Amino acid sequence: MNIVSLLGSARKNGTSARIARAFTDTAVAYGATVTEYPLNTMQYRGCQGCEGCHTRSDRCVLRDDATPALDQLYHADIVLFAAPVYFGDTCGQFKSFYDRMWSLLRTDTDDDEAYSRLPPGKTAILLLTHVDRAAAHDDVVERYTRTLELYGFTVRTLTAAGLLLQPNTDVDSYLQAATVLARELMRAE
Ligand SMILES: Cc1cc2nc3c(=O)[nH]c(=O)nc-3n(C[C@H](O)[C@H](O)[C@H](O)COP(=O)(O)O)c2cc1C
Repeated sequence: MNIVSLLGSARKNGTSARIARAFTDTAVAYGATVTEYPLNTMQYRGCQGCEGCHTRSDRCVLRDDATPALDQLYHADIVLFAAPVYFGDTCGQFKSFYDRMWSLLRTDTDDDEAYSRLPPGKTAILLLTHVDRAAAHDDVVERYTRTLELYGFTVRTLTAAGLLLQPNTDVDSYLQAATVLARELMRAE
C-alpha cells in the first residue's frame, strides 16, 4: 500500500500533523509505504491558469517542489490531505497545492466518470482541523469531498473540531479515530 501524505499546516507538530501521523504511523505498522510532503517547507507556486496541462502537456508545466508530489499522486493507493481551516477554507499552503491538482483533470470530456487523469481505485482521506464547533465548517468538507470525487477518489473524512488554538492542544480522541481508520483501510487491502 502506497500512501502520500500532504501536510498543509505550517505547524510541524500541530493538530493536523499529529492526527495525520497517527494515521500514517499505523499504516506503516501494517506494511504501508508513506511519502510525506510538508507543504510549508516546499517552494512552489500556485496554479498559473496557463492551461499548459491541457494543451502542450498532460502534466503541470511548472517545475518546482510540487512537481514530484503531483507525480506521486499517480502511484498512490491512499492520499492523505491534511489542513487546518483558515477563514472558512483550507490554509493557503494547502490551497495552492490543491489548485495545482488542476493538471490531474481532463477538460476535454463531458463524462463525469472520465474527468480524472489519475488511475481509478484510490482513497482520499480528507483531514481538517479547526476551533469552531463541529458542524461549523461542513461546507468546506462538502466542497473538497465533491472535488476529490472528480478525481475518482473514494473519500473518507476525519474532522477535528472544537479544538483550542494552541498547537499542542489535546487531540487524543482524533488520534484514536485516525488509527482506527488506518487499521480498517489496511485490513481491506
Ligand atoms: C489564520 C488563521 C485562520 C483561522 N481560521 C479559522 C476558521 O475560520 N475557523 C476555525 O474554526 N478555526 C480557524 N482557525 C484555527 C485553526 O483552524 C486551528 O487552530 C487548527 O487546529 C490549526 O491546525 P494545525 O494545528 O494543524 O495548524 C484559524 C487559525 C489561523 C491561524
